[in-house]
Amino acid sequence: MLIPLILSGGSGTRLWPVSRKNLPKQFLALAGQGTLFQQAIARTRQLPRVAAPIVVASDDHRFLAADQLLESGIDDATIVLEPLARNTAPAIALGALQAIDRDADAVLLVLPADHLIGDTAAFAAAVEKALPLAEQGWLVTFGIRPDRPETGFGYIHHGDAVGDGYHVDKFVEKPDLATAQSYVADGGYDWNSGMFLFKASRYLEELAAHAPAMLAAVREAHAKASVDLDFVRIDRDAFARVPDDSIDYAVMEKTRRAAVIPVSCAWSDIGSWSALWQTSAHDAQGNAHDGDTLAIDTRNSLLRSHDRHLLATVGVDDLIVVTTPDATLVAHRDAAQDVKKIVEKLKAAG
Ligand code: GDD
Ligand code: MG
Repeated sequence: MLIPLILSGGSGTRLWPVSRKNLPKQFLALAGQGTLFQQAIARTRQLPRVAAPIVVASDDHRFLAADQLLESGIDDATIVLEPLARNTAPAIALGALQAIDRDADAVLLVLPADHLIGDTAAFAAAVEKALPLAEQGWLVTFGIRPDRPETGFGYIHHGDAVGDGYHVDKFVEKPDLATAQSYVADGGYDWNSGMFLFKASRYLEELAAHAPAMLAAVREAHAKASVDLDFVRIDRDAFARVPDDSIDYAVMEKTRRAAVIPVSCAWSDIGSWSALWQTSAHDAQGNAHDGDTLAIDTRNSLLRSHDRHLLATVGVDDLIVVTTPDATLVAHRDAAQDVKKIVEKLKAAG
């Protein structure tokens, strides 16, 4: 049984002021048809022999997730609710335990809820290629050809050929800039797309080997879950004892059974305003517009305005300007990663 596992518990702070605590980016229509979460779900519905999805989300967003699923015509999803965020390794473990309750041999297709994929047919073909490897016990990742030394991604080195892909002989999560530059120059590395395919049971075995305390704590929190309406609610006290870590550090950097299927599917992680600028349509001066905007003598900027608020710029380059009813962001495109500092400051100020 192939079960999609949609990870939608992120907070999306780098896309402030549009992405907010109560309405983070994955539940917004930032680009493409529908919200990013709905696009992730729709992508899985095109796959052959696919079972009902499991969504792992924050308890704060339960109605957003449920409403957006219904709006997409999905009424068979299981929604697992985390009382607090413990990063992706525990979230995937919850999904794996849930999947095994349905089918001990379940294969999980783990998909972040906040990516854009332009070529969904290429994505589906890559999943088909990855399936035999997953069934043989490999933890399969999908590799993207890097076009810049991005430090926010994981890097995968291609080893020997295996099936339709390669053995991963090195996985490095979020290297520093000099290391990322050397990997791009080397040419033998892909970006980790953050999408994975593996048997639920194999993932749990890897956790047992590399993060046994995490697995034990997640098992306890899952065993104490209560089912209420369409939601599986994870026990708060037990989940609070789960160590925080991502799958990339906890498992992918350590396992010896990782394989990569390279995929070229117009993939993009909408991590920041500059990433959104990059994937948007541009005018002749390189500006991306959304809403009521007027750009004079302006280059390579992202201008996003709400309702009928006119946003006009003159004589500026490389800016991000985003307005919402109660907040306006002005940032240099190179500082797009630091937008999260605004959110941290606002949080600290209460
Ligand atoms: N349920 C749940 N709970 N989901 C979470 C949590 C959590 O605590 N934390 C993050 N997520 C979701 C996010 O919403 C996102 O969809 C996905 O998991 C990945 O988390 P990110 O926080 O966006 O990870 P990243 O972008 O820093 O890094 C990952 O993705 C890169 C590609 O986009 C890594 O896998 C990198 O290796 C990879 O290159
Ligand atoms: Mg991300």
